[in-house]
This record gives sequence, C-alpha cells and structure tokens, in this order.
Amino acid sequence: MGPWRSTRAWRPVRPVKKVKSREATTAPNARAVARDVLLRVDRDGAYANLALAAALSRTDLSVRDRRFATEIVYGVTRMRRACDFLIARFVTRELDPAVRATLRMGAFQLQFMRVPAHAAVAETVAVAPGRARGLVNAVLRRVSEAPVNWPDDATRLSYPDWVLDRLVSDLGAESARRALEAMNRPGKASVRADGYIQDRSSTWVADLVGCRPHERVLDMCAAPGGKASWMARGGATVVANELHTSRARQLQGNSRRLDAGLLVVNGDGACPPFARACFDRILVDAPCTGLGTLGSRPDARWRIDPPAVDRLVAVQQQLVDRAITLLRQGGTLVYSVCTLTKAESLGIDDHLARTHTGLVPLDGPAEPWRPWGRGSILLPQAAGTQGMALFRYQATGGVRGHEPPGTGSVASSLDTSAVRRS
Ligand SMILES: C[S@@+](CC[C@H](N)C(=O)[O-])C[C@H]1O[C@@H](n2cnc3c(N)ncnc32)[C@H](O)[C@@H]1O
Repeated sequence: MGPWRSTRAWRPVRPVKKVKSREATTAPNARAVARDVLLRVDRDGAYANLALAAALSRTDLSVRDRRFATEIVYGVTRMRRACDFLIARFVTRELDPAVRATLRMGAFQLQFMRVPAHAAVAETVAVAPGRARGLVNAVLRRVSEAPVNWPDDATRLSYPDWVLDRLVSDLGAESARRALEAMNRPGKASVRADGYIQDRSSTWVADLVGCRPHERVLDMCAAPGGKASWMARGGATVVANELHTSRARQLQGNSRRLDAGLLVVNGDGACPPFARACFDRILVDAPCTGLGTLGSRPDARWRIDPPAVDRLVAVQQQLVDRAITLLRQGGTLVYSVCTLTKAESLGIDDHLARTHTGLVPLDGPAEPWRPWGRGSILLPQAAGTQGMALFRYQATGGVRGHEPPGTGSVASSLDTSAVRRS
C-alpha cells in the first residue's frame, strides 16, 4: 500500500458526543474483532474467511454481533479500494496498518451500511488505537459529511482496473457493470436437502450433465465435491478426480459425510489413470480465474492477477483435450467455469471447434442462462447466483480417440491405490 496523499490537509474536528444507543453496548466488541481480522488480512495477507472464523471462535459474541463483524470484514475486504478513496481525501500522511483498518471500517459503515453516522463514527473511534483516536474521529466525521465524486467506475465499484477493463471488453459495458455490482452483494449459497451448502448455479451445472442411473461419469476436477455428489444421487457411478492431495482428502470426507459413494481419485486430469473411451459423461469443471464468484470470495478480486487468465487457459485446453479421449462415442462432455472471461469460455470452445470437429454442441439451458457462442453464460445479476459459463457437447464418430460403448474399462486402467470408495 502506497503512502496516503490527498489534496486537502487534515484538520482536527471536534470530537463527537458519546452515543447512548443500543449499538453502544454491543457493537464495539464486534468492531474490535472485525478490526483485528482486517488488520491480519491487510498486513499479513491472511484469507478473510479463515482469519474471521479463527477470530470468531475465540470470542463469545452474540449471533447478532457475529453477523455484524462478518458483514464488516467481508464488506471492507470487497470495498477496500472504494473505502481507501473515501478516506484518502482527508488524510495527508502515511497511516499505520491498524489505523488504516479502523478507518476503512468506519468509511464502510458510513458509505455502504445502514449504520447511523453518529454511531458509526463514535463506535469506530472507540476501537481505534488510543493515540489515533483524534485522527480517526476527524477523518470519519469528514467522510460522513462530504459528498462523494467517484473518479471512475473501478474505484466506485472497488475492483482492480484490469478486472473492470476485462469484463467491459468481454461482456460489454452495461453487463459488466451490472455483474460487478451484483458481486458486491454478499453471495447467497443454498443448503441442499443433504445439508451440503452450495451455490444454486453449481447444482444447475451438475443437473445439466444429465447423468442417468448406472452410467459411468467422470468429474475431472472434482474437489470439494459439490457437483460430483449431486450427480451421484441418481444412481450413476461417479469417479471424482482431483489433482491436489489435500483437496482430494476433503472431497473424500465430503463424499463420506454425504454418503455419496464417489470413487475418489487423486490424479492430474491432464494425464489421468483411466482407459480410453470409458465414460458416458464427463464434466470438466475446470480451474479458472473465478471472476464469477467474487461475491462469495471477498478477497479474491485482489489476489487474481491478469496473467492468470492465459495460464489457466493452457490448463483448461489440456483438460478438455484429455477428457475427449476418455469419452465414449455418443457420450456427453460438459465444460464449465465459474468465471466470465471470454478466453476461458468462448476461447476453449473455439479450441474444441478447431481441433475436435466430431463434438456436436448441445442446446443450451433456458433463462436465466443466456446464449454465449455455442454455449451459455449465467451472469451474476441474472438470478443472484455466481457467474458461470457452460458448454455441452455430444461426441460423434469424428472425435479422436473414441471407441464404441462398452470397450473401455475404468477399473482395468485405474491405479487402484489412488481410488477410494467412500
Ligand atoms: C472449479 S474447482 C471444482 C469444483 C468442483 N467441481 C465442485 O463442484 O465442488 C476446480 C478444481 O480443479 C482442481 N484442479 C486443478 N488442476 C487440476 C488438474 N490438472 N487435474 C485435476 N484437478 C485439477 C482444483 O484443485 C480445484 O479443486
């Protein structure tokens, strides 16, 4: 974080009176917890969700205060750039991280929450480092009074420039703006009947694979297992492959807990231990930049870097190329990503169209999905879900590496030490 500069010098402002509202008795504790977590995220690079969970586990905050602390931590993490702009107008000197975290928290309450200004200022000042209380009080009072003229959309919406630029160029200005606004609202995951918490869009993708009883299905990139366990409900045999060992363990734990009966494989989808043409359906829910999930992953927007797009496109191409060799003739391939860049969606479909002419695109799903080249896109603003892109194909005779149904065997070529029936 660079030095803090502004065109206006900081002027001391008289302290606000003590507030005798309900917030005065409950909120300071929640704000202190939130401030500490924000400090860890900013100074130590901690993940907001992990740092928050750890901090909350050490407190006896009420449910209401936990919710309040969570809203502040996630909100400030998302809206950090906007909060910094609000503050920087009134600060001329470099701030120490604890003071910066406190000011961001105050600015967030004033600009983006419905906390009354007097309470937002007084209660935030109450948890500021002692020597900085005057400064925090003065700056927050100015923030609460001054009109805001945002310099640009990236600052107002609080995203890195490249994310805004990329989505404007890929989706068009209006769709991009609405997508970015939608992802500034907290994500709404749903709880499935079996207790698993999942975004509705993931359930829709799993349904669109269209698994039937007794079919052999591969989820090539399966952890933590939301889609695989959902696909297994109907009686298909689902092989759930995952590259990273710790995530494969998590996948296996989820499969056991949900009694999903997944065959968990810890392997690289780019060189998987399966026979050619042995699956009826394959889902490649590929690793991606995750730009459709920024609503539920508050710090992700600051962690992804632009080169990640090209790096991931190379991995995605490898995965779909390999998936095709594992698909039986007449089988179904579904490629999905929870991101909104063209390169990771239309770009992969272009690659498939050029290199695998025997793959025939299948019809796209109805609204809230909308057509996206030969596939479909689900924008976050369409139904309040995560953003996704999805392409479905049927493998016809012209696809390289196919064999007729029944000639392949999953088990014959599996490294059985890597497979666990859970
Ligand atoms: C989008 S997530 C999958 C989400 C999962 N399908 C679900 O619904 O729960 C992508 C996963 O692919 C894994 N992955 C990354 N590279 C991989 C590779 N080469 N082979 C297999 N899995 C890979 C990541 O570790 C991550 O768990």
